[in-house]
Amino acid sequence: MLFLVLASSALVAPPTVAVFGGSGFVGSRVCKALVDCGLSVVSISRAGQPPAGAAAQSWSQRVDWRSADALAPPPIPLPKIDCAVSCVGNMRPSPNWSGFFGLHWDTEVMRRENGEITERIAEAAKRAGASRFVYLSVYSSTKFAYCGALEGYIDGKDRGEAAVRRIFGDANTAFVSPSLIYGGERFPSFGKLYAAVAGSPLIRGQTQFFKALKRRAATGWGPGDAIGEVALTPPCDVDDVVKATVACLLDTIPAEMRQRHTEQQRIENELRLAGGMPGTPEYTYLNVDGTDQIREVAKVAGTQAILAAAAANAKDTEIAEDAEELASGLAEAVAADAPWQSPSAYGSPMEGALMGFKPLLFPWPPGLALFAFFATAVVANKLIIEAGCRRARLGRCDKLEVPETTPPK
Ligand SMILES: NC(=O)c1ccc[n+]([C@@H]2O[C@H](COP(=O)([O-])OP(=O)(O)OC[C@H]3O[C@@H](n4cnc5c(N)ncnc54)[C@H](OP(=O)(O)O)[C@@H]3O)[C@@H](O)[C@H]2O)c1
Repeated sequence: MLFLVLASSALVAPPTVAVFGGSGFVGSRVCKALVDCGLSVVSISRAGQPPAGAAAQSWSQRVDWRSADALAPPPIPLPKIDCAVSCVGNMRPSPNWSGFFGLHWDTEVMRRENGEITERIAEAAKRAGASRFVYLSVYSSTKFAYCGALEGYIDGKDRGEAAVRRIFGDANTAFVSPSLIYGGERFPSFGKLYAAVAGSPLIRGQTQFFKALKRRAATGWGPGDAIGEVALTPPCDVDDVVKATVACLLDTIPAEMRQRHTEQQRIENELRLAGGMPGTPEYTYLNVDGTDQIREVAKVAGTQAILAAAAANAKDTEIAEDAEELASGLAEAVAADAPWQSPSAYGSPMEGALMGFKPLLFPWPPGLALFAFFATAVVANKLIIEAGCRRARLGRCDKLEVPETTPPK
């Protein structure tokens, strides 16, 4: 709808999309997808440059890379834009060592770098002329499961969502809410394996079975249940997340699918704590929640042909008539860009995943130490019990001398 409105000012330059966090793991791919659709793209991040490995690729030369700290006092410098996507967020552990294992999340930093930052970004985008805003949030089950353990991150995401809705209104707001994202150089093989195992009928079936059981329980589905559910949810392929994000931006999701997804979200939420998690959503805005919905939107509403046609529609109605031709032309251009080299944010390993950040000691070594500690405890416990049983079998237990105790006077 937005782009049909924009099309009324036909034969102007292509609509400009601001991608906040365009140098990141998801953001860089969103920039590429938008460029491939023929849109004009400006990326804002502190680095102000494409991720390592992407600088030489043709799409990155068509992006206006700008450097700005969205949390710093001066307003974020933006040209006139038509709409915006925010892929900014942080859930990395604190780089400062704390406690025995060192691994911890700083609640206030998480709140600021997910909540306050999104508020400022949405305000800046609105000031620069954006009429629609898509925000990369997080899966509702993850929010429910980790609202205690990752309080700052979840609070920040909630605050970010509330700010976007307040500033843009529900009709012009969309959230894409994935669980763990894999692809490119982030967990490439592990991600596929995890998705295959967690997506198997056996694993999915057991989650559905326990949900059906809990539907009758007075407590409903609690955060403890949701922790297991999130662990057994297939992670999202980054390409699907990108397609769903661009589909939300270009408004290509069919109304029927949107309603069905909203209904699924409502039913899921009702099960939580037998009546809905606190701050129950109003479902008046678009939210593509979780791997299944993201995959479906990517497949049905996020194909290159559909996205290119929607983008062309925004540029010029005449071009829109030749959308299929344009789409196939763009597809060829995309193919010519291949092979897609996965960018590696700032050259960091695994495209800036949790691993590889300082202090380098976590999270693997403390994780291994913790595992070794519990494994030793379990094995030692088992050995002690077995030794006790052996002694009992040999009858030595009978000879145990029990010291006589004198009752207190
Ligand atoms: N990855 C996942 O598994 C996952 C799962 C669920 C939800 N999400 C959400 O998806 C979004 C994208 O995740 P991602 O993995 O792509 O993150 P990422 O690779 O860490 O990218 C974050 C981007 O935000 C930019 N940024 C951070 N702080 C900034 C600041 N103060 N000012 C301007 N730009 C800033 C970063 O660039 P600079 O550092 O150069 O500023 C980077 O471009 C996040 O909101 C995240 O919460 C991710």
